[in-house]
Amino acid sequence: MTRRKWKSSVLFIRVLGDEQIMSNVKAQMSNQLINKIKNKEARIAVIGLGYVGLPLCMEFAKKGFCVTGIDVDRKRVESVNKGVSYIGDVKSSEIKSYVKEKSFQATTDYRILGKHDAIIMCVPTPLRKTKEPDISYIIDASKKIAKTLKAERLVVLESTTYPGTTDEVIQPILEKSGLKAGEDFYLAFSPERVDPGNEKYNTANIPKVIGGINSQSTFMAKTLYNQVNDHVIAVSSSRVAEMVKLLENTFRSVNIALVNELAIMCGYLDIDVWEVIEAAATKPFGFMPFYPGPGIGGHCIPLDPFYLTWKSRLHGYEAKFIELAGEINRAMPEYVIRKIRDILNNRKKSINGSTVFILGVAYKKDVGDWRESPAIEIISMLLKKGANVSFNDPYVSEINIGNTLMRSKDLNKSLLGKSSCTVIITNHSVYDYKFIVENSSAVLDTRNATGRLKRIFENVFKL
Ligand SMILES: NC(=O)c1ccc[n+]([C@@H]2O[C@H](COP(=O)([O-])OP(=O)(O)OC[C@H]3O[C@@H](n4cnc5c(N)ncnc54)[C@H](O)[C@@H]3O)[C@@H](O)[C@H]2O)c1
Repeated sequence: MTRRKWKSSVLFIRVLGDEQIMSNVKAQMSNQLINKIKNKEARIAVIGLGYVGLPLCMEFAKKGFCVTGIDVDRKRVESVNKGVSYIGDVKSSEIKSYVKEKSFQATTDYRILGKHDAIIMCVPTPLRKTKEPDISYIIDASKKIAKTLKAERLVVLESTTYPGTTDEVIQPILEKSGLKAGEDFYLAFSPERVDPGNEKYNTANIPKVIGGINSQSTFMAKTLYNQVNDHVIAVSSSRVAEMVKLLENTFRSVNIALVNELAIMCGYLDIDVWEVIEAAATKPFGFMPFYPGPGIGGHCIPLDPFYLTWKSRLHGYEAKFIELAGEINRAMPEYVIRKIRDILNNRKKSINGSTVFILGVAYKKDVGDWRESPAIEIISMLLKKGANVSFNDPYVSEINIGNTLMRSKDLNKSLLGKSSCTVIITNHSVYDYKFIVENSSAVLDTRNATGRLKRIFENVFKL
């Protein structure tokens, strides 16, 4: 089909119903890969076996596909092949059974990609120190894919990134293979929306958005994800799909910043911000609750919006909301330090020389991921100010603060009693908050984990 015809197919997506577009597109395509996917004969390769990639491998294996995971981290590859999980949401027993029945294996060897029909990239997309996107992992993986790329293959990017990455960056790299994207092979973007630790929503039941570089690519990616996802939504291009993810995470960042600022204002006015949010959330329309905290962490919310500001700046537009939200959210750890200082000051103590016990260093509850966690910055600041700091986290055994390794300590009466201030940074569900409050001298609760206890005990202070 000519390029012009493809463009008109893409345009159709916006005006026709999903089913009608897809049947028009399908009529123009070879059935080879479509049939392989539908018959579960397509071999799937997932590049990057982290929080996103490993659960995705499990989903494809569960649905009867043969899956290969590729990672540059030899330890992760060995762990997978031994059936040992390092991701909270994936059970070792699950990996073990797929490895045993040979429907799942892991390797560091990219050459194996030549034998795969669908290749999905789930590599990291961090920010550089300058807050510019670092898509070097995507580029590296794409260059390696190009070396063995063949016709009638599907390549999908799931890593969060700025609009244009798939068609402006990946497509030219893959086309160095001599094959034409959208004609010889298919290329699409599908944002990953997984929420680690969420027991209700997982890789299979979170609706999946997909957008190809042309309608054939969208069709092929939709065909693939239909096998593992309950609900797949096709959009008109890879750029739209890339923007969808950035909207979702920018929405969270901006709304969290709003309630963080509200928490600061409530602090001055001596109002319980959580009580305010709880009551506001009773409105059945037009309000969605977000909650304040000690700062944002993890691999997504603190980073993703800046992929958008960067891209927008290239077009001469400064994204104001994102920058302001980032500023407010980044200032929260400092606000927590002020709160600790005030609590100690009222007891005629200073941070310098006091023992502070941090509960929870993971960036959110019930997970062991401490990347970008505000706890790290809070502990660093306390150490710099001369505090003796220890921490407990049932999911994190050790952390690095600069060059210093800190190990999780037992949560017991003795350590709580010895500390001048206990600070709840992460509201893990397994904590016994009554025990914590009863045995602490003072508790700063940055997450409302103590709930109504703070109305009963005078030693509990809110954010
Ligand atoms: N973690 C989340 O909750 C989440 C949710 C939605 C989207 N995302 C996005 O998904 C992407 C992956 O995130 P993650 O949390 O799974 O990251 P992760 O760090 O947990 O895993 C990434 C894996 O990729 C491997 N890797 C790096 N470069 C590679 C290469 N060139 N070839 C093969 N493997 C390579 C790493 O060794 C690592 O095991 C990121 O873009 C992230 O923003 C993450």
